[in-house]
Amino acid sequence: MNVLGSLSGFRGRLCLAFLFLFSAQLLSAQWAPLVTDADAAQRITWWREARFGMFLHWGVYSIPGHGEWAQWFEQIPTDQYAKLADQFHPEHFDADAWASTAKAAGMKYMVLTARHHDGFALFDDPVSSFTAMKSAAHHDFVADYVKAVRKAGLGVGLYYSPLDWRYPGFFFPGIYQHNAAELRQQYDRQIDELALHYGKLDILWFDGGGNEWLGFGGVEFTGSNWQARPKDHPYSGSFDWQDVKTVAHLRQLQPGIILNDRTDAPADFRSREGDGALGDFDNTHPWELCTTITEGAWGYQPEAKVKPLAQLLRLLIGAAGRDGNMLLNVGPRPDGQIDPAQASRLSEIGQWLRLNGESIYGTRGGPWLPGGYGVSTHQGKMVYIHVLHAPQNSKLVLPTLPVKVVKATVLNGSDFAFEQTAQTFILNLPPSSPDTIDTIVKLELAEAWTTSAVIPVPAK
Ligand code: GLC
Repeated sequence: MNVLGSLSGFRGRLCLAFLFLFSAQLLSAQWAPLVTDADAAQRITWWREARFGMFLHWGVYSIPGHGEWAQWFEQIPTDQYAKLADQFHPEHFDADAWASTAKAAGMKYMVLTARHHDGFALFDDPVSSFTAMKSAAHHDFVADYVKAVRKAGLGVGLYYSPLDWRYPGFFFPGIYQHNAAELRQQYDRQIDELALHYGKLDILWFDGGGNEWLGFGGVEFTGSNWQARPKDHPYSGSFDWQDVKTVAHLRQLQPGIILNDRTDAPADFRSREGDGALGDFDNTHPWELCTTITEGAWGYQPEAKVKPLAQLLRLLIGAAGRDGNMLLNVGPRPDGQIDPAQASRLSEIGQWLRLNGESIYGTRGGPWLPGGYGVSTHQGKMVYIHVLHAPQNSKLVLPTLPVKVVKATVLNGSDFAFEQTAQTFILNLPPSSPDTIDTIVKLELAEAWTTSAVIPVPAK
Protein backbone atom coordinates (compact mmCIF):
# COMPACT_ATOMS: atom_id res chain seq x y z
CA MET A 1 0.00 0.00 0.00
CA ASN A 2 1.08 3.52 -0.67
CA VAL A 3 2.24 4.75 2.73
CA LEU A 4 1.11 8.31 2.17
CA GLY A 5 -1.65 7.75 -0.33
CA SER A 6 -4.54 8.57 1.98
CA LEU A 7 -3.69 12.20 2.72
CA SER A 8 -6.38 14.62 1.64
CA GLY A 9 -6.10 17.29 -1.03
CA PHE A 10 -6.61 20.01 1.59
CA ARG A 11 -3.54 18.89 3.44
CA GLY A 12 -1.70 18.81 0.16
CA ARG A 13 -2.68 22.41 -0.46
CA LEU A 14 -1.59 23.39 3.02
CA CYS A 15 1.75 21.85 2.26
CA LEU A 16 1.96 23.94 -0.86
CA ALA A 17 1.34 27.06 1.16
CA PHE A 18 4.11 26.10 3.54
CA LEU A 19 6.38 25.31 0.69
CA PHE A 20 5.82 28.73 -0.73
CA LEU A 21 6.74 30.39 2.54
CA PHE A 22 9.76 28.22 2.87
CA SER A 23 10.92 29.08 -0.61
CA ALA A 24 10.44 32.74 0.13
CA GLN A 25 12.78 32.36 3.08
CA LEU A 26 15.35 30.71 0.96
CA LEU A 27 15.63 33.69 -1.34
CA SER A 28 18.21 35.13 0.96
CA ALA A 29 20.27 31.93 1.09
CA GLN A 30 23.51 33.40 -0.15
CA TRP A 31 26.06 33.25 2.58
CA ALA A 32 29.04 31.49 1.18
CA PRO A 33 31.70 33.78 -0.22
CA LEU A 34 32.67 33.24 -3.84
CA VAL A 35 35.99 31.70 -4.80
CA THR A 36 38.84 34.03 -5.66
CA ASP A 37 41.52 31.61 -6.91
CA ALA A 38 43.30 32.18 -10.21
CA ASP A 39 41.29 29.49 -12.08
CA ALA A 40 37.87 30.58 -10.87
CA ALA A 41 36.88 32.51 -14.00
CA GLN A 42 38.07 29.83 -16.37
CA ARG A 43 36.34 27.07 -14.37
CA ILE A 44 32.93 28.70 -14.60
CA THR A 45 33.14 29.76 -18.25
CA TRP A 46 31.45 26.72 -19.83
CA TRP A 47 28.60 26.99 -17.34
CA ARG A 48 28.06 30.68 -17.95
CA GLU A 49 27.95 30.06 -21.67
CA ALA A 50 25.52 27.17 -21.19
CA ARG A 51 22.89 29.43 -19.61
CA PHE A 52 20.20 26.76 -19.28
CA GLY A 53 20.08 23.49 -17.33
CA MET A 54 17.67 20.83 -16.09
CA PHE A 55 17.09 20.18 -12.39
CA LEU A 56 15.58 16.80 -11.45
CA HIS A 57 13.97 16.15 -8.07
CA TRP A 58 13.35 12.45 -7.85
CA GLY A 59 13.36 9.98 -4.99
CA VAL A 60 11.02 7.95 -2.80
CA TYR A 61 8.98 11.11 -2.17
CA SER A 62 7.88 10.87 -5.82
CA ILE A 63 5.70 7.87 -4.84
CA PRO A 64 3.12 9.67 -2.66
CA GLY A 65 3.40 12.62 -5.02
CA HIS A 66 3.12 15.35 -2.40
CA GLY A 67 6.43 16.97 -3.15
CA GLU A 68 9.89 16.33 -1.71
CA TRP A 69 9.00 17.93 1.63
CA ALA A 70 6.14 15.48 2.33
CA GLN A 71 7.91 13.80 5.23
CA TRP A 72 8.51 17.08 6.98
CA PHE A 73 5.19 18.78 6.33
CA GLU A 74 3.19 15.68 7.17
CA GLN A 75 5.47 14.76 10.08
CA ILE A 76 5.82 11.16 8.99
CA PRO A 77 7.91 9.06 11.36
CA THR A 78 11.18 8.00 9.77
CA ASP A 79 10.52 4.25 10.08
CA GLN A 80 7.16 4.63 8.35
CA TYR A 81 8.61 6.88 5.66
CA ALA A 82 11.45 4.43 5.09
CA LYS A 83 8.91 1.85 3.88
CA LEU A 84 8.53 3.90 0.71
CA ALA A 85 11.87 2.46 -0.37
CA ASP A 86 10.19 -0.97 -0.62
CA GLN A 87 7.93 0.47 -3.30
CA PHE A 88 10.64 2.28 -5.22
CA HIS A 89 11.34 0.18 -8.32
CA PRO A 90 10.94 2.62 -11.20
CA GLU A 91 10.16 0.33 -14.11
CA HIS A 92 10.46 3.07 -16.75
CA PHE A 93 13.63 4.70 -15.53
CA ASP A 94 15.71 5.60 -18.57
CA ALA A 95 18.52 8.06 -17.99
CA ASP A 96 19.16 8.36 -21.73
CA ALA A 97 15.57 9.49 -22.17
CA TRP A 98 16.03 12.14 -19.46
CA ALA A 99 19.20 13.36 -21.15
CA SER A 100 17.62 13.52 -24.58
CA THR A 101 14.60 15.38 -23.19
CA ALA A 102 16.99 17.91 -21.65
CA LYS A 103 18.95 18.20 -24.86
CA ALA A 104 15.84 18.69 -26.95
CA ALA A 105 14.81 21.45 -24.55
CA GLY A 106 18.06 23.25 -25.32
CA MET A 107 19.48 22.56 -21.88
CA LYS A 108 23.24 22.21 -21.57
CA TYR A 109 23.63 20.65 -18.14
CA MET A 110 21.65 18.60 -15.65
CA VAL A 111 21.49 18.36 -11.85
CA LEU A 112 19.91 15.31 -10.19
CA THR A 113 19.01 15.02 -6.49
CA ALA A 114 21.46 12.29 -5.53
CA ARG A 115 20.11 12.64 -2.00
CA HIS A 116 17.51 15.07 -0.68
CA HIS A 117 16.69 16.04 2.92
CA ASP A 118 14.77 12.78 3.53
CA GLY A 119 18.06 10.88 3.42
CA PHE A 120 17.26 8.39 0.63
CA ALA A 121 20.30 8.03 -1.61
CA LEU A 122 19.94 7.22 -5.31
CA PHE A 123 23.49 5.84 -5.13
CA ASP A 124 25.21 3.29 -2.97
CA ASP A 125 26.63 4.03 0.45
CA PRO A 126 28.55 1.24 2.20
CA VAL A 127 27.19 2.32 5.58
CA SER A 128 23.60 3.51 5.06
CA SER A 129 20.90 1.04 4.12
CA PHE A 130 18.49 3.79 3.01
CA THR A 131 19.69 3.70 -0.57
CA ALA A 132 18.32 2.64 -3.94
CA MET A 133 20.97 -0.10 -4.05
CA LYS A 134 19.87 -1.68 -0.79
CA SER A 135 16.10 -1.45 -1.30
CA ALA A 136 13.50 -2.61 -3.83
CA ALA A 137 15.20 -1.12 -6.89
CA HIS A 138 18.65 -2.65 -6.19
CA HIS A 139 20.01 -0.12 -8.58
CA ASP A 140 22.50 2.73 -8.63
CA PHE A 141 20.57 5.44 -10.46
CA VAL A 142 23.37 7.97 -10.16
CA ALA A 143 25.64 5.66 -12.16
CA ASP A 144 23.20 5.42 -15.09
CA TYR A 145 22.42 9.09 -14.91
CA VAL A 146 26.04 10.23 -15.00
CA LYS A 147 26.79 7.92 -17.92
CA ALA A 148 23.80 9.09 -19.94
CA VAL A 149 24.34 12.79 -19.31
CA ARG A 150 27.99 12.52 -20.20
CA LYS A 151 27.15 10.56 -23.37
CA ALA A 152 24.67 13.24 -24.40
CA GLY A 153 27.43 15.84 -24.12
CA LEU A 154 25.77 17.74 -21.28
CA GLY A 155 27.33 18.99 -18.05
CA VAL A 156 26.94 16.45 -15.23
CA GLY A 157 25.56 17.84 -11.99
CA LEU A 158 24.50 16.27 -8.72
CA TYR A 159 22.44 17.83 -5.93
CA TYR A 160 23.34 16.78 -2.41
CA SER A 161 21.82 17.74 0.95
CA PRO A 162 24.19 17.50 3.95
CA LEU A 163 21.09 17.95 6.11
CA ASP A 164 19.20 14.70 6.69
CA TRP A 165 15.90 14.78 8.60
CA ARG A 166 16.56 11.35 10.09
CA TYR A 167 19.24 12.80 12.35
CA PRO A 168 18.06 14.54 15.54
CA GLY A 169 21.61 15.84 15.74
CA PHE A 170 20.79 18.22 12.91
CA PHE A 171 18.04 19.86 14.95
CA PHE A 172 19.73 19.72 18.37
CA PRO A 173 23.46 19.49 17.72
CA GLY A 174 24.21 20.58 21.26
CA ILE A 175 22.28 17.75 22.90
CA TYR A 176 22.84 14.99 20.35
CA GLN A 177 26.48 15.61 19.71
CA HIS A 178 27.28 12.05 18.82
CA ASN A 179 24.39 11.91 16.38
CA ALA A 180 25.38 15.23 14.81
CA ALA A 181 28.91 13.89 14.40
CA GLU A 182 27.48 10.83 12.63
CA LEU A 183 25.56 13.08 10.30
CA ARG A 184 28.76 14.89 9.46
CA GLN A 185 30.51 11.58 8.85
CA GLN A 186 27.74 10.63 6.47
CA TYR A 187 28.21 13.94 4.67
CA ASP A 188 31.95 13.35 4.23
CA ARG A 189 31.50 9.72 3.29
CA GLN A 190 28.73 10.31 0.77
CA ILE A 191 30.57 13.19 -0.87
CA ASP A 192 33.52 10.82 -1.21
CA GLU A 193 31.27 8.15 -2.72
CA LEU A 194 29.98 10.62 -5.29
CA ALA A 195 33.36 12.14 -6.03
CA LEU A 196 35.23 8.84 -6.36
CA HIS A 197 32.95 6.44 -8.19
CA TYR A 198 31.27 8.22 -11.08
CA GLY A 199 34.07 9.75 -13.10
CA LYS A 200 34.24 13.45 -13.72
CA LEU A 201 31.48 15.55 -12.19
CA ASP A 202 30.93 19.09 -13.41
CA ILE A 203 28.64 20.51 -10.70
CA LEU A 204 27.94 19.70 -7.06
CA TRP A 205 24.79 21.53 -6.06
CA PHE A 206 24.54 21.69 -2.27
CA ASP A 207 21.37 22.38 -0.32
CA GLY A 208 20.94 22.47 3.46
CA GLY A 209 24.59 22.68 4.42
CA GLY A 210 26.30 25.42 6.36
CA ASN A 211 25.82 26.42 9.95
CA GLU A 212 23.02 28.82 9.02
CA TRP A 213 20.68 25.89 8.66
CA LEU A 214 21.54 24.02 11.81
CA GLY A 215 18.41 23.25 13.79
CA PHE A 216 16.54 25.09 11.05
CA GLY A 217 17.61 28.29 12.67
CA GLY A 218 16.50 27.11 16.09
CA VAL A 219 12.98 28.44 15.58
CA GLU A 220 9.67 26.67 15.97
CA PHE A 221 9.69 23.44 13.98
CA THR A 222 6.57 23.95 11.93
CA GLY A 223 6.62 24.25 8.21
CA SER A 224 5.53 27.85 8.24
CA ASN A 225 8.31 28.97 10.54
CA TRP A 226 11.11 27.13 8.87
CA GLN A 227 13.89 29.56 8.25
CA ALA A 228 17.60 30.12 8.29
CA ARG A 229 19.27 31.87 11.18
CA PRO A 230 19.13 35.62 10.91
CA LYS A 231 22.50 36.99 9.86
CA ASP A 232 22.96 38.86 13.13
CA HIS A 233 22.25 35.69 15.17
CA PRO A 234 24.75 33.16 13.85
CA TYR A 235 24.83 29.67 15.25
CA SER A 236 27.11 29.68 18.29
CA GLY A 237 27.07 26.01 19.34
CA SER A 238 29.98 23.65 19.17
CA PHE A 239 28.93 21.70 16.09
CA ASP A 240 30.47 22.56 12.75
CA TRP A 241 29.70 21.04 9.37
CA GLN A 242 33.35 21.63 8.46
CA ASP A 243 32.19 22.55 5.00
CA VAL A 244 35.47 24.23 4.18
CA LYS A 245 37.35 20.98 4.76
CA THR A 246 34.82 18.75 2.96
CA VAL A 247 34.58 21.08 0.00
CA ALA A 248 38.36 21.48 -0.29
CA HIS A 249 38.66 17.69 -0.34
CA LEU A 250 35.93 17.48 -2.98
CA ARG A 251 37.75 20.01 -5.13
CA GLN A 252 40.91 17.94 -4.83
CA LEU A 253 39.12 14.78 -5.94
CA GLN A 254 37.24 16.58 -8.71
CA PRO A 255 39.43 19.34 -10.10
CA GLY A 256 37.36 21.75 -12.17
CA ILE A 257 34.07 21.00 -10.41
CA ILE A 258 31.87 24.03 -9.74
CA LEU A 259 29.79 24.50 -6.59
CA ASN A 260 26.87 26.65 -5.49
CA ASP A 261 26.77 28.74 -2.33
CA ARG A 262 24.61 26.71 0.04
CA THR A 263 27.44 25.65 2.32
CA ASP A 264 29.89 27.75 4.33
CA ALA A 265 32.71 27.05 1.87
CA PRO A 266 33.75 29.33 -1.00
CA ALA A 267 31.44 28.77 -3.97
CA ASP A 268 31.64 29.24 -7.73
CA PHE A 269 28.17 30.64 -8.21
CA ARG A 270 25.27 32.05 -6.32
CA SER A 271 21.87 30.50 -6.21
CA ARG A 272 18.54 32.32 -6.48
CA GLU A 273 15.41 30.30 -5.90
CA GLY A 274 11.92 30.62 -7.35
CA ASP A 275 10.31 32.80 -10.04
CA GLY A 276 10.10 35.74 -7.64
CA ALA A 277 13.84 35.71 -7.07
CA LEU A 278 14.87 36.62 -10.61
CA GLY A 279 16.21 39.76 -8.99
CA ASP A 280 18.77 42.29 -10.09
CA PHE A 281 21.28 42.37 -12.89
CA ASP A 282 24.66 41.06 -11.70
CA ASN A 283 27.56 40.51 -14.09
CA THR A 284 30.17 40.33 -11.34
CA HIS A 285 29.13 37.17 -9.50
CA PRO A 286 28.05 34.15 -11.55
CA TRP A 287 24.51 33.21 -10.53
CA GLU A 288 21.68 30.87 -11.34
CA LEU A 289 17.94 31.06 -10.88
CA CYS A 290 16.47 27.68 -10.05
CA THR A 291 12.76 27.24 -10.41
CA THR A 292 10.08 24.70 -11.20
CA ILE A 293 8.34 23.92 -14.48
CA THR A 294 5.12 23.30 -12.53
CA GLU A 295 3.34 25.28 -9.86
CA GLY A 296 4.07 23.85 -6.42
CA ALA A 297 6.81 21.58 -5.18
CA TRP A 298 10.01 20.32 -6.79
CA GLY A 299 9.22 16.63 -6.41
CA TYR A 300 6.42 14.99 -8.43
CA GLN A 301 2.85 16.12 -7.79
CA PRO A 302 0.37 14.55 -10.19
CA GLU A 303 -2.02 17.51 -10.04
CA ALA A 304 0.58 20.25 -10.45
CA LYS A 305 -0.08 22.59 -13.35
CA VAL A 306 2.69 23.17 -15.86
CA LYS A 307 3.58 26.85 -16.11
CA PRO A 308 2.75 28.56 -19.40
CA LEU A 309 5.45 28.69 -22.07
CA ALA A 310 5.56 32.50 -22.03
CA GLN A 311 6.19 32.58 -18.27
CA LEU A 312 9.07 30.11 -18.52
CA LEU A 313 10.64 31.80 -21.52
CA ARG A 314 10.43 35.18 -19.85
CA LEU A 315 12.30 33.74 -16.89
CA LEU A 316 15.00 32.27 -19.08
CA ILE A 317 15.33 35.47 -21.12
CA GLY A 318 15.14 37.51 -17.91
CA ALA A 319 17.94 35.48 -16.36
CA ALA A 320 20.19 35.80 -19.45
CA GLY A 321 19.48 39.53 -19.60
CA ARG A 322 20.50 39.88 -15.96
CA ASP A 323 23.63 37.87 -16.74
CA GLY A 324 22.52 34.68 -15.02
CA ASN A 325 21.60 31.07 -15.76
CA MET A 326 18.34 29.22 -15.30
CA LEU A 327 18.05 25.72 -13.86
CA LEU A 328 14.54 24.51 -14.59
CA ASN A 329 13.21 21.70 -12.46
CA VAL A 330 11.16 18.70 -13.48
CA GLY A 331 9.91 16.12 -11.00
CA PRO A 332 9.84 12.73 -12.73
CA ARG A 333 7.09 10.29 -11.81
CA PRO A 334 7.81 7.43 -9.43
CA ASP A 335 8.10 5.09 -12.44
CA GLY A 336 11.00 7.23 -13.67
CA GLN A 337 9.31 8.97 -16.58
CA ILE A 338 9.10 12.69 -17.01
CA ASP A 339 5.44 13.58 -17.08
CA PRO A 340 4.30 14.07 -20.72
CA ALA A 341 2.86 17.53 -19.99
CA GLN A 342 6.23 18.66 -18.60
CA ALA A 343 8.11 17.00 -21.44
CA SER A 344 5.99 18.73 -24.03
CA ARG A 345 6.55 22.15 -22.44
CA LEU A 346 10.27 21.41 -22.48
CA SER A 347 10.13 20.59 -26.13
CA GLU A 348 8.39 23.93 -26.84
CA ILE A 349 11.19 25.73 -25.02
CA GLY A 350 13.65 23.77 -27.15
CA GLN A 351 11.87 24.87 -30.34
CA TRP A 352 12.14 28.48 -29.25
CA LEU A 353 15.82 28.09 -28.46
CA ARG A 354 16.54 26.45 -31.79
CA LEU A 355 15.31 29.63 -33.46
CA ASN A 356 16.57 32.18 -30.98
CA GLY A 357 19.41 30.48 -29.11
CA GLU A 358 22.09 32.81 -30.49
CA SER A 359 20.59 35.56 -28.32
CA ILE A 360 20.93 33.41 -25.16
CA TYR A 361 23.80 30.90 -25.30
CA GLY A 362 27.28 32.30 -24.92
CA THR A 363 25.97 35.80 -24.36
CA ARG A 364 26.47 38.12 -21.42
CA GLY A 365 23.79 40.36 -19.98
CA GLY A 366 23.68 44.00 -21.11
CA PRO A 367 24.87 46.44 -22.29
CA TRP A 368 21.45 47.93 -21.54
CA LEU A 369 20.21 47.07 -18.08
CA PRO A 370 16.77 45.51 -17.75
CA GLY A 371 14.02 48.09 -17.97
CA GLY A 372 10.42 48.62 -19.01
CA TYR A 373 11.24 47.34 -22.51
CA GLY A 374 12.72 43.99 -21.44
CA VAL A 375 16.39 43.02 -21.29
CA SER A 376 19.48 42.91 -23.50
CA THR A 377 22.27 40.41 -24.12
CA HIS A 378 25.43 40.61 -26.19
CA GLN A 379 28.21 38.58 -27.71
CA GLY A 380 31.10 40.05 -29.72
CA LYS A 381 29.74 42.65 -32.12
CA MET A 382 26.15 41.53 -31.65
CA VAL A 383 23.69 42.99 -29.19
CA TYR A 384 20.25 41.45 -28.73
CA ILE A 385 17.45 43.61 -27.41
CA HIS A 386 14.74 41.36 -26.02
CA VAL A 387 11.64 43.49 -26.26
CA LEU A 388 9.29 41.81 -23.83
CA HIS A 389 6.92 44.78 -23.59
CA ALA A 390 6.62 46.59 -26.90
CA PRO A 391 5.92 50.31 -26.57
CA GLN A 392 2.38 51.35 -27.64
CA ASN A 393 3.55 53.28 -30.69
CA SER A 394 6.22 50.66 -31.53
CA LYS A 395 8.87 53.31 -30.97
CA LEU A 396 11.52 52.11 -28.56
CA VAL A 397 13.74 54.83 -27.16
CA LEU A 398 16.82 53.81 -25.21
CA PRO A 399 19.82 55.78 -23.95
CA THR A 400 22.45 55.69 -26.68
CA LEU A 401 25.33 53.23 -26.96
CA PRO A 402 28.86 54.64 -26.99
CA VAL A 403 29.62 52.43 -30.03
CA LYS A 404 28.24 52.89 -33.53
CA VAL A 405 25.40 50.56 -34.52
CA VAL A 406 25.75 49.51 -38.15
CA LYS A 407 22.67 47.37 -38.61
CA ALA A 408 19.40 46.40 -36.91
CA THR A 409 17.39 43.29 -37.76
CA VAL A 410 14.55 41.47 -36.12
CA LEU A 411 16.03 38.06 -35.35
CA ASN A 412 14.65 35.68 -37.97
CA GLY A 413 13.04 38.71 -39.64
CA SER A 414 14.09 41.68 -41.72
CA ASP A 415 16.29 44.76 -41.37
CA PHE A 416 14.77 48.00 -40.25
CA ALA A 417 15.63 51.61 -39.64
CA PHE A 418 17.02 53.06 -36.44
CA GLU A 419 18.38 56.36 -35.28
CA GLN A 420 21.43 56.81 -33.10
CA THR A 421 22.28 60.20 -31.65
CA ALA A 422 24.66 61.28 -28.90
CA GLN A 423 21.85 60.80 -26.37
CA THR A 424 19.39 58.27 -27.69
CA PHE A 425 19.00 55.12 -29.68
CA ILE A 426 15.60 54.93 -31.33
CA LEU A 427 14.07 51.88 -32.93
CA ASN A 428 10.86 51.93 -34.91
CA LEU A 429 9.86 48.37 -34.36
CA PRO A 430 8.16 46.63 -37.26
CA PRO A 431 4.43 46.14 -36.59
CA SER A 432 4.71 42.37 -36.63
CA SER A 433 7.42 40.17 -35.22
CA PRO A 434 8.16 36.48 -35.84
CA ASP A 435 7.95 35.96 -32.07
CA THR A 436 4.97 37.00 -29.99
CA ILE A 437 6.63 36.51 -26.61
CA ASP A 438 9.92 38.25 -27.25
CA THR A 439 10.70 40.53 -30.18
CA ILE A 440 14.44 40.12 -30.50
CA VAL A 441 16.22 42.98 -32.17
CA LYS A 442 19.70 42.04 -33.30
CA LEU A 443 22.11 44.94 -33.57
CA GLU A 444 25.46 44.76 -35.26
CA LEU A 445 28.04 47.09 -33.76
CA ALA A 446 31.05 48.59 -35.50
CA GLU A 447 33.24 46.98 -32.87
CA ALA A 448 32.82 44.25 -30.26
CA TRP A 449 31.32 45.18 -26.89
CA THR A 450 33.94 43.79 -24.55
CA THR A 451 33.38 45.81 -21.45
CA SER A 452 31.24 44.83 -18.47
CA ALA A 453 29.96 48.40 -18.27
CA VAL A 454 26.18 48.76 -18.37
CA ILE A 455 23.75 51.43 -19.42
CA PRO A 456 20.86 52.15 -17.04
CA VAL A 457 17.42 52.34 -18.64
CA PRO A 458 14.52 54.24 -17.14
CA ALA A 459 11.76 51.91 -15.94
CA LYS A 460 9.19 53.46 -18.31
C1 GLC B 1 15.07 24.15 -1.20
C2 GLC B 1 14.23 22.97 -0.79
C3 GLC B 1 14.16 21.97 -1.76
C4 GLC B 1 14.65 22.14 -3.14
C5 GLC B 1 15.62 23.25 -3.28
C6 GLC B 1 15.85 23.68 -4.70
O1 GLC B 1 16.22 24.22 -0.53
O2 GLC B 1 14.59 22.45 0.44
O3 GLC B 1 13.19 21.06 -1.59
O4 GLC B 1 15.40 21.04 -3.35
O5 GLC B 1 15.32 24.31 -2.52
O6 GLC B 1 16.49 24.90 -4.73
